[in-house]
Amino acid sequence: MKRYHVTTFGCQMNEHDSERMKGMLESIGYREAPDPDSADLILFNTCSIREAADSRFMAHLGHAKRRKRERPGVVIGVGGCWAQSVKEEVFRRFPFVDVAFGPGQVHKLAEFLTSDSLTAQGYFEFEGFTGELPQKRARDFQGWVQISVGCNMVCSYCIVPSTRGREVSRAAEDLVAEVERMASEGVTEVTLLGQNVNAYGRDLGKRGLPAANFADLLARVDAIDGIERIRYTSPHPQDMKEDVVRAHAELGALCEHIHLPLQSGSSRLLKAMRRTYTRERYLDRVALIREHVPDCAITTDIIVGFPGETEEDFAQTLSLAEEVGYDGAFTFVYSPRRETEAATFPDQVAHDVKVERMERLVEVIQRGARQRAQRFVGRTLDVLVEGPSRKDPTRLRGRSRHNKVVNFTGLAQAGEFVQVDVTSATSQTLAGEESLVARATG
Ligand code: SAH
Ligand code: SF4
Ligand code: F3S
Repeated sequence: MKRYHVTTFGCQMNEHDSERMKGMLESIGYREAPDPDSADLILFNTCSIREAADSRFMAHLGHAKRRKRERPGVVIGVGGCWAQSVKEEVFRRFPFVDVAFGPGQVHKLAEFLTSDSLTAQGYFEFEGFTGELPQKRARDFQGWVQISVGCNMVCSYCIVPSTRGREVSRAAEDLVAEVERMASEGVTEVTLLGQNVNAYGRDLGKRGLPAANFADLLARVDAIDGIERIRYTSPHPQDMKEDVVRAHAELGALCEHIHLPLQSGSSRLLKAMRRTYTRERYLDRVALIREHVPDCAITTDIIVGFPGETEEDFAQTLSLAEEVGYDGAFTFVYSPRRETEAATFPDQVAHDVKVERMERLVEVIQRGARQRAQRFVGRTLDVLVEGPSRKDPTRLRGRSRHNKVVNFTGLAQAGEFVQVDVTSATSQTLAGEESLVARATG
């Protein structure tokens, strides 16, 4: 029996692709090894979103090279966005790699491995969805659903359009069938995945498939028995329309959380980033959310130190963050990526300026998130238990509908929904106790 090991870098798309790789490998008789040292097939599912992602992977590749020297029969495969961005060059730079493939070729993994000559082969066409493959889910009760692949936006800093190709949506019927199957297997929470989820469906008509848009899809998934929570990531502010915002108020399973990537609070920089919205338009989207779903958690992504970012531009990002009051944010230092437009911009920001701005931004985000989180103290929240708390294993950890991590004392099992009385809140997590009243009354 052959054994595989997969190391995953990057976003939820990659996590999900890895589940599909594992599912496929198991379907052709492979079993998962606990670590790369005991694996016959060492796979990396790579990311290239920032330079740090590349360097993290390089360190792992160095270890793999040593393993291959010690055990020459080991097969080393590199998939994902980094592989796609360097293509055949991977074999010139790293001759010990046996097979390389992009995100559009995951479905062919079994074929690569069973082909006669497994030496220095690259597969980089954009075709097929991982969504149609078997999967090995990390948790029985949570599932990812890939609703589209690729991205048609042209954000000037971003490598994803070149690593994931043009946007292609999956047919709504197939998605509904997939979620029904997951629900029948015990999944209660689904996360719909795409680079620009609210552009979902625009290409279906052209491909002769029944029309559907993102709001329709949400309603159809909400109607599936057993699905208690629906999340999605990421929407684009340009396409955040009233129908989707209203769906958060109207659909029982759709959670009170919207991740709305900002990138910058300066309209001038948003234009250079090719984000297709202004500061005002973004704030208008936030107002729409607050109007229909007042308690909604809003989180975001922000880039600091984009080429040409002046102190004035940055001050606008800070003031926007203060104004919105985010429940949380992922903050990134701008990283020039190969073959992106922004990497060629002349006015790159100095490293120490980026670092200093990042510190100021993080301070504002954390203060805002801490303040926002206080609204939960004294409330009883519906929590989906994920397992033991990371810091204190005698306590439990779960997530509220607002996507807040909740650490609490209680007796529940992973996968159960419980009511938790929230007693305190920091910028990152809530703390509390399983509600006795709720348990006694069921
Ligand atoms: N499709 C999603 C995000 C994909 S990448 C969206 O548009 O929201 C996740 C985040 O990484 C982006 O939102 C952005 O904030 C960040 N990012 C992307 N490219 C980057 C780069 N070159 N440097 C720094 N951060 C980057
Ligand atoms: Fe990248 Fe922009 Fe597409 Fe997001 S929307 S994946 S940031 S190009
Ligand atoms: Fe995701 Fe990284 Fe690719 S963030 S889309 S795995 S470049």
